Amino acid sequence: MNRFQGKIVLVTGGNRNTGLSIVKKFCDEGAKVYMCGSSTASTQKGSDILASWGCKNITSIPCDVSDIEQVKNMFDIIEKDAGRLDILVNNAAHQGIGKPFTEMDPSYLMEVLGVNVRGGFQVTQQAVNRFFLKQKERGVVVFLSSNTAMRAIRNRTAYCASKGAINSMVKALALDLGPLGIRVNACAPGYIYTERWDVLPEETKQRRRLNCPLRHEATGMDIANVVAFLASEDSANMTGEIITCDAGCSCQHMPEDTDF
Ligand SMILES: NC(=O)c1ccc[n+]([C@@H]2O[C@H](COP(=O)([O-])OP(=O)(O)OC[C@H]3O[C@@H](n4cnc5c(N)ncnc54)[C@H](OP(=O)(O)O)[C@@H]3O)[C@@H](O)[C@H]2O)c1
Repeated sequence: MNRFQGKIVLVTGGNRNTGLSIVKKFCDEGAKVYMCGSSTASTQKGSDILASWGCKNITSIPCDVSDIEQVKNMFDIIEKDAGRLDILVNNAAHQGIGKPFTEMDPSYLMEVLGVNVRGGFQVTQQAVNRFFLKQKERGVVVFLSSNTAMRAIRNRTAYCASKGAINSMVKALALDLGPLGIRVNACAPGYIYTERWDVLPEETKQRRRLNCPLRHEATGMDIANVVAFLASEDSANMTGEIITCDAGCSCQHMPEDTDF
């Protein structure tokens, strides 16, 4: 398929794990892709990986999405370079790992929300105001949410809250921007194989897989395929949707080995 031939795409957090697959997907289907990581070093590392995969037509721009000045700078570069934007993928995320609620300083909550909610908000606002509303062919926004917005995981209060906020923001944006010709949807993954799985004991990996009715976590490309669908004309009549892609995890009340 070549659904994105000639399209200009921005993927935040495109330098690592799932973001790399999303960038590759758009690249493979003909797009010119801009991607950012939070720092110069991490962005360059992602750029090198994509080059080693043979991906062409990619420009990487370091940008901390929680910092409005850096966000504006990223859009200045896209404006000067491409002069338009067709698709925005808000993938960047602060994972909010390692602080149980009882020990969590409220400032940590704001740090996580700063990347996941404020970041998505201000990147989307720049895309809409600077590009989409000025273009005859408007634009599409896809957020990466999480099934943990609906069914929480332990010791991740800030992260789960941020993904719940993203789901609500997607619906609110769909209402505000739909009449202007702009669609906003989200993909809500469950387990995705990332570098964080590499260090897990095999037993833990298998236990997680047992928790999935389909018996396997997603690959980055499984998620990229859903994102591409939501960004393409194949989903032309959809907005405000949260599409879960979690191997069926959200369907079950209890994992199989506790269900007697
Ligand atoms: N992995 C899963 O099992 C899972 C499950 C459900 C939902 N999701 C969601 O799917 C998306 C991708 O997940 P993932 O596991 O691949 O993510 P990840 O490995 O944690 O990578 C996060 C990405 O976001 C970037 N990022 C973090 N803070 C940033 C900031 N302030 N400004 C700009 N970029 C920033 C990171 O860049 P740096 O390298 O510079 O830090 C990195 O590229 C996320 O939205 C995540 O919440 C993941």
